Amino acid sequence: MSHKNITKEIIDQLINIVGAEYLIVDVDVLEKFSHDETEDLRFYPEVVVKPRTAEEISAILKLANIENIPVTPRGGGTGLSGGALAIYGGILISMERFNEILEIDDDNNQATVEPGVITEVFQNAVKEKGLFYPPDPSSKGSCFLGGNLGECAGGPKAVKYGVTRDYILNLQVVLPTGEIIWTGANVLKNSTGYNLTQLLVGSEGTLGIITQIVFRLIPLPKEDLLMLIPFLSEESACNCVKDIFKAGITPSCMEFMERDAIMMSMEFLGDCDVEVADNVKAHLLIEVDGNDADVLLHDCEVIMGVAEKHECGEVLFAESDNAKNRLWRLRRNVAEAVKADSVYKEEDTVVPRAQLAILIKGVKALGVKYGFKSVCYGHAGDGNVHVNILKGDMSEEDWNNKLIDGIREIFELVKSLGGTISGEHGIGLVQKEFMDIIFDENQLRIQKGIKKLFDPKNILNPGKIFED
Ligand code: LAC
Ligand code: ZN
Repeated sequence: MSHKNITKEIIDQLINIVGAEYLIVDVDVLEKFSHDETEDLRFYPEVVVKPRTAEEISAILKLANIENIPVTPRGGGTGLSGGALAIYGGILISMERFNEILEIDDDNNQATVEPGVITEVFQNAVKEKGLFYPPDPSSKGSCFLGGNLGECAGGPKAVKYGVTRDYILNLQVVLPTGEIIWTGANVLKNSTGYNLTQLLVGSEGTLGIITQIVFRLIPLPKEDLLMLIPFLSEESACNCVKDIFKAGITPSCMEFMERDAIMMSMEFLGDCDVEVADNVKAHLLIEVDGNDADVLLHDCEVIMGVAEKHECGEVLFAESDNAKNRLWRLRRNVAEAVKADSVYKEEDTVVPRAQLAILIKGVKALGVKYGFKSVCYGHAGDGNVHVNILKGDMSEEDWNNKLIDGIREIFELVKSLGGTISGEHGIGLVQKEFMDIIFDENQLRIQKGIKKLFDPKNILNPGKIFED
């Protein structure tokens, strides 16, 4: 990829666009923008700009096209596939000043929002109007909605309520060539031409920079119940998952944690203990929600009846909001806990949910073959398991070279089970070398052709999703 370096003249032009106050070249400050949450990767942009309007972004992208400079858009920097890393230097656009909720329209259950709003801030704002925005990645307290759109984030509620893309009606986007467009209309049904809105969702900041989002919202469920069920084997936990759905229940969350996941999270947090018997190998954290408490109690009884047929231990019910928060803290901190323990790689595998047990068994067998330890957890109801591979005391040589073959085998297993290599974290930088496992030449030709159509000079987030 031959891109041009940033000159003093280009910096001056950027200052003219965003103002000197919103441009950073100081290396100490750039450090914050050199990484996201992906492994221990570091790439410094040459300059960070913080525009406030779509017009400013348009001017930046037009300049980048003329000068052939790579531009990386960035939200909250919590990504797990390296999408926000400025791998070729160049300009990094921080979207942090696009932080306004422009309208919550409770007549239409819609909201118009800027992409730099933190996900949880948005969730709380719509909650005040009795509305619900379900996508809730573990990083919801610091991730931006724009990043959630970029990766099509999911989270625990996806099993009942769907992922980010299911809540997007329309987008204002600055194209890589600088034009500003709306992708659709603020309507619930739309059979008008190709669906550019959904093409942009999950495009990982490679097809355009989103500057306004129109969301669809739903009424907030009034009640929920949460329980933690221990199992004597990973296999029984996985098989219980499919049987709960077969019993006619769709939980609002259905999360899997293998023993090490919950133990590491407890150790990491220090103040959040649950009792885990020695023979327990995995847990399911299951939530049901709705408007009728009696119906939910009945759902829980059905779930417990199913679990009892699968070697479960004593079920822990969260009796209070406080108890619920503790269990959710344990679950949401698994990724951080693993990160604190060791250098690691995270694979975002997803298979049809009935194949979960085979997937986890296969991952463990590959761990033995390649000498790695893994911690598996995630959204079992979606068949979406995060496989965290720990470096532990692996040699640099094995970690950097031999492990790639092991990861490839994990993904080949995923593919053979009818799954794919990312459910909710995206391909970004770190998974792009495995795209050939999932897509053949024709599929890749079409995908790359779309990129070329949007971004003929390949200046917007180059080197992501595909090899250049
Ligand atoms: C989670 C993030 C890592 O499920 O996706 O915690
Ligand atoms: Zn997840």
